[in-house]
Parts: sequence; structure tokens; C-alpha cells
Amino acid sequence: MSNIVRIAPSILAADFLDLGNELQSVSNADFIHYDVMDGDFVPNISFGPGLLRAVKRGTDLPVDVHMMVKNPDEVFRDYLEAGADVLTFHIETAKHAHRIVDEIHRYGRRAAVAINPGTAVSSLDAIIDYLDMVLVMSVNPGFSGQKFIEHTYTQLNKLTALCQSHSVRPLVEIDGGVSVKNAAQVVAAGANVLVGGSAVFDAEDHARMVDDMRTAGMQGFAMRMV
Ligand code: DX5
Ligand code: ZN
Repeated sequence: MSNIVRIAPSILAADFLDLGNELQSVSNADFIHYDVMDGDFVPNISFGPGLLRAVKRGTDLPVDVHMMVKNPDEVFRDYLEAGADVLTFHIETAKHAHRIVDEIHRYGRRAAVAINPGTAVSSLDAIIDYLDMVLVMSVNPGFSGQKFIEHTYTQLNKLTALCQSHSVRPLVEIDGGVSVKNAAQVVAAGANVLVGGSAVFDAEDHARMVDDMRTAGMQGFAMRMV
């Protein structure tokens, strides 16, 4: 059975030289978060579809691919072909969002849209009915280890309201500066997939940190109930 609060370690913060072992060290997680950066939409360059094929061989977990690229319409199929289980594109750069979502579903994969901290939640209004997940950025994308932006709680509250008004319940992923310290609060505000980059891979015991983040998140879920 799926966990109510899911943890997605971001291998952007892993030791690239030891990636196989790093993937195995978080085998108790729910997803592997794979950050694609093109040095244009974001000021950093990370991985492409080639490494994704290798990552798929190194883990049994579903891989959650976060494309931070200026041209998702042109490149998203490369990540489907390489095995992305969940494929996320940014609403700020998509030319034909519904077409991308339809095509992801045609491959039998899950489709998600991301919004930057400065992007209005209302920009999801036309697409929310078709999504399996929404990714709410809680830092400006580009690097791991950045500070969580507090305005994210307002974004999460607005997203919860938007989902309710559409009677949909996509997964809600929160990405950037998430740790045991704020896991409960982000879950209480509506998130249920927590990306952990530096929080997980800088920890002494990666697997234990995954469990600790999930446990902390579950406390936030209990806060929603009251
Ligand atoms: C940031 C990436 C994140 C990043 C998170 O642009 O999208 O997935 O790896 O790293 P932390 O958890 O360290 O902020
Ligand atoms: Zn990410």
C-alpha cells in the first residue's frame, strides 16, 4: 500500500561518483526525484535522459523526473523513452500543456505540472483536472541546499482551495528546502510528496532520514484532521 506521506530523495544532492550505492541507500523511499536542468530555464546544468536510463537500472522505485527546461514540448518524450514514471514540466515554459499531459498518459505514465514560487496558483486552473500531481516549488529552482520560502504555505493553501473547487485530488509535491523541521507544516498545508535533497543525502544515515521525514510529515497529516 502507498504511504500517505511519500518521500522523494533528490539525487541532485547525492554523491554522483557513487550513484548506485546512493540509490540503494534510499530504497525505503517512495520515489527517486530526478532533476533535469538545462542551464537556461534555471542557472545550472544537471542530468539528461542518458543518466535516467542508468538510474532506472539502479533502483526499483518509481522515478519522478522534474524537467526544469525552457523547451519541455520538444524534449519531454526523451524522458518518457528513458523510463520516467512521473514526468513533471513547468507551466512557465510549456507551449501546449494539455498536449504534453495527453502524451504522457498515452505512455501510461503519470503527468505533473510544476510552478515556481513566483507563479500564481491560478495558472493551473485550465490544467488541474488532468494532472496526477502538482509540484509546488518552495525555492527558486536551480540548486539543492537553498532556504525554504515561507510564502509556499500560501501557495499550498491556494492549491488546496483550487483542487477542492475542481473536485480533484492530485498528489501535491513540495520541492526545495524541505526537512524534518518543516515536514509536518507542509503536509498540514496540503503537501503529500516531500522532496528531500540535502536533507537526505547530507544526513549520516539516508534511510533513517527518509523514515524520519515521513514520520514528521505524518504528524502534519494528523494536524489536517483536527
Ligand atoms: C531545486 C531542485 C530540487 C533540489 C532540492 O531546483 O528542483 O529538487 O534538488 O534540494 P533541497 O532539498 O536540498 O532543497
Ligand atoms: Zn526538483
